[in-house]
Amino acid sequence: MTQELTTSLATEPARSSESPGWWRDAVIYQVYVRSFADSDGDGIGDLRGARERLPHLAGLGVDAVWLTPFYASPQADGGYDVADYRAVDPLFGSLGDADDLVRTAHELGLKVIVDVVPNHSSDQHPWFREALADRPGGAARARYHFRPGRGVHGELPPNDWESVFGGPAWTRTTDPDGTPGEWYLHLFAPQQPDLDWDSPEVRAEFDSVLRFWLDLGVDGFRIDVAHGMVKAAGLPDIGHTEQAKLIGSQVLPFFDQDGVHEIHRSWRRLLDSYPGDRIGVAEAWAPTAERLALYVRPDELHQAFNFQFLKCPWDAAAMRQVIDESLAATGSVGAPTTWVLSNHDVVRHLTRYADGSPERGLARARAAALLTLALPGSSYLYQGEELGLPEVTDLPDELRQDPAFFRTSPDGQDGQSGQDGFRDGCRVPLPWTRSGESHGFGPGGSWLPQPDTWSGLSVEAQTGDPDSTLELYRGALALRRELPGLGDGEMSWLQAPAGVLALSRPGFVCTLNTLGEEVELPVPGRALLSSAPLTYKAGTVCIPPDSCAWWAI
Ligand code: NOJ
Repeated sequence: MTQELTTSLATEPARSSESPGWWRDAVIYQVYVRSFADSDGDGIGDLRGARERLPHLAGLGVDAVWLTPFYASPQADGGYDVADYRAVDPLFGSLGDADDLVRTAHELGLKVIVDVVPNHSSDQHPWFREALADRPGGAARARYHFRPGRGVHGELPPNDWESVFGGPAWTRTTDPDGTPGEWYLHLFAPQQPDLDWDSPEVRAEFDSVLRFWLDLGVDGFRIDVAHGMVKAAGLPDIGHTEQAKLIGSQVLPFFDQDGVHEIHRSWRRLLDSYPGDRIGVAEAWAPTAERLALYVRPDELHQAFNFQFLKCPWDAAAMRQVIDESLAATGSVGAPTTWVLSNHDVVRHLTRYADGSPERGLARARAAALLTLALPGSSYLYQGEELGLPEVTDLPDELRQDPAFFRTSPDGQDGQSGQDGFRDGCRVPLPWTRSGESHGFGPGGSWLPQPDTWSGLSVEAQTGDPDSTLELYRGALALRRELPGLGDGEMSWLQAPAGVLALSRPGFVCTLNTLGEEVELPVPGRALLSSAPLTYKAGTVCIPPDSCAWWAI
């Protein structure tokens, strides 16, 4: 059936800004360092490996890279447990390697964002060791949240908070004489004690840490748990269990407290005191687009990850609603929206969208990439999505490292074993070559096994194949640079049949068919790129199922 594709009023202009910075429409590629490229053959990705592969990213056409934590760490949570915020873990290289990487990236025209982990340190951080050695109420304990337990003998946790990784958010300490002592708070693993941001020492230390990396030349920070640094006064009980399910759907005494904004304001002042456009990106789980927008008010951070979009199902009406709400909320504070489909904490979107059929997952993932790259604002790509990598769902339990897996399912016996939902399956090292040791990831194997089928998904296998996902991303990113209507700016919806989205930007139209059958539309313009082959009839075009196309008008 042919449908009218006529312009109708739709959203307000996405936003406007007098002086757009590079980040307003940047495509930022997430490098999960441990799994990107290994230079020394220990099976774990490192900074030298990443540096050697930067030309791939420059050639792909992204604007910036975000490097996940490479700091000194016992690796209880993939490096999000930092023991020294100014040191590079020997697993990943040296400070000199970090310096070289930043310099090489800049030579290639790429900005570099690094992670900062301010909500918690490692339990091996000198501060936490001092705190354990100190007495209750001592100065060294004031940098963390230590409390006496409840119950006659202090045998119960101080409140009912649960760890995001499962189990109580408190662990009891043992005093130097061997008797049970106070409890300390850890919203994540016990090896990640929460810092107390009421402590002036904590604030001063992180100012200094930020300066350390800014002085080294980084262009910004991805701020881990940016919504969690301030806890409600008195650490009140929540009153029920399964609290992890509430994250991102309501304000909790430990997440999205208003007090965090004052910290982000002070960080913004610090970032602005440096030359160049240095940015802060919030990893913040907020219940609504409006509350998320508070993190990107003009005097706060520059961007916040749009997890509402990431969580949105493959459904045109739902997608349109999230897009509208996101643009309206960030537009109201003059910030750009970010578009995120995957990261190192979630099941890869190809598999999320697959609904049991990997072919459908790939078709939808390719279409979703074109949709997001056509939307106003900035896009985050997670390494490997440009190769169409699926989640690996059959990793042997003994190789898993995600602490959430062990805290939820200590021996893999609760029905979760081997299932999606834990975070190793999206962290399997990238395949660079068709064959060879770990498909070119490194000379010494890889810390998680790559499926054999990944040979055909390698960078080498896909390069030059016009039908490959890699070439689709390359083509889309090249066009995005070339076309003035893309990136930051205005967008409106065109009328389209149910299940189809058609969005218009200056000189440009994007059509997305989310249905399982082809849809016939009037030809919107000159086809620029499509995630699946288009066929034409007189004056109409058939948009294949689960596909997206870009048009010049
Ligand atoms: C969010 C990070 O992305 C995740 O990997 C980590 O486990 C938690 N924050 C705790 O730092």
